[in-house]
Amino acid sequence: MRITIDQAKQLLLGEEVVAVPTETVYGLAACLHCPDAIKKIYILKGRPSNNPLIIHVSSPEEIQPFITHTPPFFKELAEAFWPGPLTLILPIHEDKVPTILRAGLPTAGFRVPSHPLARELIKLSGPLVMPSANLSGRPSSTSFSHVEDDFGPHFPVLDGGFCNEGLESTILLFRESRWVLARLGALSADEFIPILGYRPVVECASPSQKQPLCPGQLYRHYAPKAKLTLGSQARYSNEECIIGFRDRSYPSCSHKMIWGTVERPFEVAENLYSVLRRLDRNNIITAWIDDEFPSGGLWETLKERLRRASQE
Ligand code: TXA
Ligand code: MG
Repeated sequence: MRITIDQAKQLLLGEEVVAVPTETVYGLAACLHCPDAIKKIYILKGRPSNNPLIIHVSSPEEIQPFITHTPPFFKELAEAFWPGPLTLILPIHEDKVPTILRAGLPTAGFRVPSHPLARELIKLSGPLVMPSANLSGRPSSTSFSHVEDDFGPHFPVLDGGFCNEGLESTILLFRESRWVLARLGALSADEFIPILGYRPVVECASPSQKQPLCPGQLYRHYAPKAKLTLGSQARYSNEECIIGFRDRSYPSCSHKMIWGTVERPFEVAENLYSVLRRLDRNNIITAWIDDEFPSGGLWETLKERLRRASQE
């Protein structure tokens, strides 16, 4: 159900949950200081309680009261990428951030989104806690209709059209004197080199503590109901459908879904979740994905999402 920005504000202040567009994916929003609404988010999504949520603010200054200190290069990262698709995990004052949203961790994820509706709403309602607006484990939502598919026609959604990044934010975490990538996302690792002077590496688990750095990475994710097989077109077997590129031909398959061209990873990113969701809308049970694409940049995030989406 489409709602206005004033209705969204009223619902949020009344401890309700609403869906909100961001430039990456739609989020399921609750006010930071409404633990009951935050609890509702976990229930609505079917999300494990040990998977923490990101706090969204409208400017970097708003973060200061919550954090104990800023790691090196915080200011430079914030200036370069906020507003935008970057989440920074920062050490917090435990009495200032509800335990429920940070799964008891001494840190929290912060992001300043660039989508104008998200920004306007945060100014009206205060900081918003938002995971992606999808059932846990399923593909994220990049349009109003995706949110409706997961949460039904009566769920309140602020419709902001299609999300133009189409992939979740990149998550950086500071540990042992360096920033590491806790989640690949809409910003590629190379984009941090001019700011940090090095390419942050992907480090999902801390080897010494054997604990996940980013708990969300533990779970099956981004997956449609359809069973996905990744491989080059040459190895294609007998799936019902092939997901591939406009500039390639797939003579052996009758049902094709096109997600963009090999020249433009941004276009593929924008279409990724729509295409995965379309498989389920069309009741497709098995699909082949042409994963023969370049390496580096955004292709690395796309590869990671597909690998996770195709896991059993
Ligand atoms: O683009 C995005 O980031 C979207 C939009 C709505 O902003 N949000 C999003 O939220 O993707 P979610 O909940 O689907 O993913 C957040 C990830 C999870 O994998 C979670 O484990 C991790 O962030 N995370 C949150 N707080 C953390 C913390 N304190 N330490 C480590 N990882 C954390
Ligand atoms: Mg998510």
